[in-house]
Amino acid sequence: MNITKICCIGAGYVGGPTMAVIAKQCPDIQVTVVDLNESRINKWNDPNVENIPVYEPGLSGIVAEARGRNLFFTTEVDRAIKEADMIFISVNTPTKTYGAGKGQAADLKWIELCARQIARVSTSDKIVVEKSTLPVRTASTLKDILKHTGNNVKFQILSNPEFLAEGTAVDDLLTPDRVLIGGDQDAEGKQAIEALVNIYARWVPKERILTTNVWSSELSKLTANAFLAQRVSSINALSELCEFTEANIGEVARAIGTDSRIGPKFLKASVGFGGSCFQKDILNLVYIARSYGLNEVADYWEQVIIMNDHQKRRFANKIIKTLYNTVNGKKIAFLGWAFKKDTNDTRESAAIYVADHLLYEQAKIAVYDPKVSADQMYADLDYLNTRTVEENQLLVDVVQDPYEACQDAHAVAILTEWDEFKDYDWQKIYDAMLKPAHIFDGRNILDKGQLERIGFKVSAIGS
Ligand code: NAD
Ligand code: UDX
Repeated sequence: MNITKICCIGAGYVGGPTMAVIAKQCPDIQVTVVDLNESRINKWNDPNVENIPVYEPGLSGIVAEARGRNLFFTTEVDRAIKEADMIFISVNTPTKTYGAGKGQAADLKWIELCARQIARVSTSDKIVVEKSTLPVRTASTLKDILKHTGNNVKFQILSNPEFLAEGTAVDDLLTPDRVLIGGDQDAEGKQAIEALVNIYARWVPKERILTTNVWSSELSKLTANAFLAQRVSSINALSELCEFTEANIGEVARAIGTDSRIGPKFLKASVGFGGSCFQKDILNLVYIARSYGLNEVADYWEQVIIMNDHQKRRFANKIIKTLYNTVNGKKIAFLGWAFKKDTNDTRESAAIYVADHLLYEQAKIAVYDPKVSADQMYADLDYLNTRTVEENQLLVDVVQDPYEACQDAHAVAILTEWDEFKDYDWQKIYDAMLKPAHIFDGRNILDKGQLERIGFKVSAIGS
C-alpha cells in the first residue's frame, strides 16, 4: 500500500517532532498534524519558527524546511482524518485522576475520543497507528470502536510506540536505536505493517525496524520506560548509601557501567527522575499487573517510584537540615526547573516537588531556567493545590538572570543539568550570597573542589 497522506492527531511533544521528521524525510508524503488546542496550533504556525511550542535542539530548522511544503498544522481535524491513508494517534494518555484506577491507570478518554472521531468521519480504508503510549490490549478497544462504523470502511490497527527522549528528540528520530511496529499477523495486518515499515525505511536501516505482534509492541513501550527508570532509581538508591560510607557515586557508577553487560548509560545519580513518561508508565504497568492479580510483579515495579519520591524528598530535607533545620524566610535560588536539560517541558520535574516541600517550610524561592516561562512554573505549583495561587506568587520569584536569582540567597540548588550553569562566574555568585554560602548540586554537574576553594559549602548527590 502506498501512503501519500498522513494525519497525526495531537500536536504535542511527540506528534510535533515526529511528524516534522517524517515530513522532512518524505517530501512526497503530505503530513497534517491536527490538534483541538488552537493556541498550540497557532504556535506551530507562527511565522517566526523560533516560537514553535516545543523547544528541541534542531527542531525549528526542520519545521522551517518542511512547513507549508508537505507539513501542515491545523485544527481542522475531520478534514485531515477524512483525507488521510494513515492516521497516527499521538494524544496524551495521562494517569487517571478520578474513578477506578485513579492515580495509576492511564486515562484513555482522549484515545477513545479519537477512535470515535475516526469512525465517524472516515469514508475510505485507513491504517490507524497507536503512537501514544498505551496499556497492553488497547488495540482491541480501538478495533471494537472502529468495527462499528456501519459504512464498510476497513481499518488496520498498528502499534508504533515512540522512544524519543526530550532534549534529544530530533537526533533520536533521525537515528533511532530501533523503530518498533506491531500489527496483526494475518495477511492484511502484515500489509499494513509493511506500509509503515516502508516509510521509516527511507532513513532507518531495515535491521533497526522491528516488527512484532501488536501486544508485544504495546507492552514493550511501557517496559522500556520501566527498565530505564529502574536504572535511575537503582543508582539513586546507591547514592544515599554512598553519602553514609564515603564511597563516591560517580566512581561507583563508572565501576558498574564499564561492565559491558550493564553499560554506562542511565547511571547518573540525580535529584530524581521527572518527565511526562516514567512515572505515568510505571504506575500504569503496576496497575495492569495488579489487574491480573500479579501482586509481586506490581510491588516490584512500584518500588522504582517509591525510591524516586524518596530521592526528591531527601534532597529537600537535606537543604533544610543543612540550613540549621529552618528555611523560614530564607531565600533559596533554584537553577533549573525543566525535568532535564535542553527541553522546556516541566511535567513531573523534580524541581516542582522540591520547591513544594521547601515552600511548606516557608522558604522563599527565586528560580531561573533558560527555557521555562514564569507562567509555567506557577501553573506547576498551583496544580499541586498545596497552597493558594497568591501564596505561590508571594513565595516564589521567577527571574531572567541567574545572578539575580542567587543575590542574597542562603543557598543555591541545581535542579536541572543545563550546560550553561557550569560556566557561571561562581566567585561572583559567592560574593553576592549570604554566608555561609551553600550549594546543593542535584545533578552533580559542578566542580565541587573548585567551589569549595571559593568558599562554598557544597552538597552533591552521592558523595
Ligand atoms: P502532549 O500533551 O504534549 O500532546 C498531546 C496533544 O494531543 C495535546 O496538544 C492535546 O491538545 C492533543 N489532543 C488530545 N486529544 C485530542 C483530540 N481528541 N483531538 C485532537 N487533539 C487532541 O503529549 P505528548 O508528550 O506529545 O505525549 C503524547 C503521547 O506520547 C503520550 O501517550 C505519551 O505517553 C507518549 N510519549 C511521550 C513522550 C515524550 O517524551 N513526551 C515520548 C514517548 C511517548
Ligand atoms: C523517556 C525515555 O528515555 C524515552 O525513551 C521515552 O520515549 C520517553 O521517556 P524523557 O522522559 O524525555 O524520555 O527523558 P530521559 O532522558 O529518559 O530522562 C528522564 C528523567 O530521568 C529526567 O528527569 C532525567 O534527568 C532523569 N535521568 C536520566 C537521571 O536522573 N539519570 C540518568 O542517568 C538518566
